[in-house]
Amino acid sequence: MHSNIESHLIEKRVFRPPKDFAKKARIKSLDQYRRMYRESINRPAKFWAREARELVWRAPWKKVVEWKAPFAKWFGGGKLNLSENCLDRHLTSARRNKAAILWEGEPGDKRTLTYQQLHHEVCRFANVLKRHKIGKGDRVIIYLPTIPEAAIAMLACARIGAVHSVVFGGFSADSIRDRIADSGAVAVITADGGYRRGAIVPLKKNVDDALREKTSVKCVIVFRRTGNETHMEEGRDVWWHGELEYVDANCPPALLDSEHPLYILYTSGSTGKPKGILHTTGGYLVGIYSTMKYVFDVRDEDIFWCTADVGWVTGHSYVVYGPLANGATTLMYEGAPNWPEPDRFWKIVQEYRVNILYTAPTAIRAFIRWGDQWVAKHDLSSLRLLGTVGEPINPEAWIWYHKKIGGGRCPIVDTWWQTETGTILITPLPGAIPTKPGSATLPFFGVDAAIVDEKGSEVGANVGGKLIIRRPWPAMLRTIYGDKERYKKQYWSEFPGNYLTGDGARRDEDGYFWIVGRIDDVLNVAGHRLGTSEIESALVSHAGVAEAAVVGRPDEMKGQGVVAFVTLKGGVKPTFGLKEELRNHVGAHIGAIAKPDEVRFAEALPKTRSGKIMRRLLKEIASGATVTGDTTTLEDFSVLTTLRESEE
Ligand code: PRX
Repeated sequence: MHSNIESHLIEKRVFRPPKDFAKKARIKSLDQYRRMYRESINRPAKFWAREARELVWRAPWKKVVEWKAPFAKWFGGGKLNLSENCLDRHLTSARRNKAAILWEGEPGDKRTLTYQQLHHEVCRFANVLKRHKIGKGDRVIIYLPTIPEAAIAMLACARIGAVHSVVFGGFSADSIRDRIADSGAVAVITADGGYRRGAIVPLKKNVDDALREKTSVKCVIVFRRTGNETHMEEGRDVWWHGELEYVDANCPPALLDSEHPLYILYTSGSTGKPKGILHTTGGYLVGIYSTMKYVFDVRDEDIFWCTADVGWVTGHSYVVYGPLANGATTLMYEGAPNWPEPDRFWKIVQEYRVNILYTAPTAIRAFIRWGDQWVAKHDLSSLRLLGTVGEPINPEAWIWYHKKIGGGRCPIVDTWWQTETGTILITPLPGAIPTKPGSATLPFFGVDAAIVDEKGSEVGANVGGKLIIRRPWPAMLRTIYGDKERYKKQYWSEFPGNYLTGDGARRDEDGYFWIVGRIDDVLNVAGHRLGTSEIESALVSHAGVAEAAVVGRPDEMKGQGVVAFVTLKGGVKPTFGLKEELRNHVGAHIGAIAKPDEVRFAEALPKTRSGKIMRRLLKEIASGATVTGDTTTLEDFSVLTTLRESEE
């Protein structure tokens, strides 16, 4: 049996950075990228010190990096404050008066906060936290919609050295309870409610349910967002606006060690108990600052819109901290992309004249499905750069994004990274690196990425294997909160000293990385290991298909059989003939080995609220088993019923 993941989908299209884009970009050519990359690998301390010096340090670091595998310290001995770097640093220039946050709520309400105003609000709220005896090292749960208060609460924690843990607003009371228990949080910051597809999500009620039994939480601060009726527990719960009455706006930033914990963000991985990924201050700041600067090549006059919810790492790094550390204008939108209609994103791009748009492949596929007429209604000519994150983007979706949203003129940065990595690690630089649809291209500065076989030996060009990172990088996770052993075992034990990403990938003859998905999702069909994403991309390249998810099911003959769940574009009929056509289409694109044994049409696929397809559920459905296990992250429960009904 082969141990390598086979890769059959060969994409030949290449898009060079447009000349006028490259001319103005910080990194202007492949040569310049290669020179800087070499320096970052050969002399990492020199490279990262130069980046770090662009930021404000209250005491200098003694050593750029100290690596006692698997534990890293970055800028050890240095002292700084992240909120000072995101706010105070900009108050001495014209940035003081520029929009830090442009915000739009789902119902259409709008707010703008300049750097000066944001600083004022953060200082006041930091004083509210202090008033409640919340201090350095205390853990604070933030359970808010994507509203400016989420950023204010995060920055206020950072200002006083409290450690925030943002819990995504779509999670249930049980998830909040687990995260409180694991982190030992002393406070929860929430809102009465948030808007999602026109309905109110009762955030405070979920918090009440989570706190029904005794916990470590002593106080709950509630922001009034929706005005729905809200129970307030005497002695525990206080209103955000009420508390502001008691405080002033004078709050000097706490001096923190570079390795002081900044936040814990829980990620479920594919199975089991959520892991509290711990990020610290100095290295994380330098990492998000540099990636934002080079990957998005962000400019003072840009309006940058990352559509992620603040509850995910993308929201932490590229809605809040990355843009603000660079003095950029970040746009935040609270709601769903199809509310009230499927053109909400394009309306926002047009109205705010957004320049850089960063979104997820799952959203792009949804837009394709909803139809081009929604896009065509709007003027998207302000866009100059597009980005994607979260899963492999199918080449056809990439091409659509490039043509229909980018008007053929915007480079696309397909950025590969993880909650654990804190920042983007594999990515094009838009003025320098030619792109190939479906490839995250080359490693960012300082990132020593490789693809290895089961024994840990690097594999050759176009051979699939496991993606590892061979040395520490500034924004890497420092541990799993409270569980060093799990940290060592999960990420560093398979290939000691190397970080195991859990993703399968290959590199092509140009050294470009092609991520094929989580190793757990790899199929083994008659001794061939196949990445599910390639079969999915082949399906999506058929004119009738909007989205596809491929899973394995036990098969006596082949080890695993291939089952494809397919959603069709509007107006396409789900016929038996089409199923055959799709099977043959995959056969023609990849090879007979990858032909799905079964194609099932579905109205929608089960996804998490962050847009990842829940393959575990599809696997269970495909093998005829009943769905067990945790489904609380499922975006839309009715999908499960309709999927079961899709069985013949
Ligand atoms: O499998 C990879 C996929 O998303 C995983 C990380 O998920 P999470 O921690 O939720 O963070 C998502 C946002 C950073 C990775 O292990 N992934 C992320 N970006 C890409 C990707 N797969 C392919 N291409 C990408 N650009």
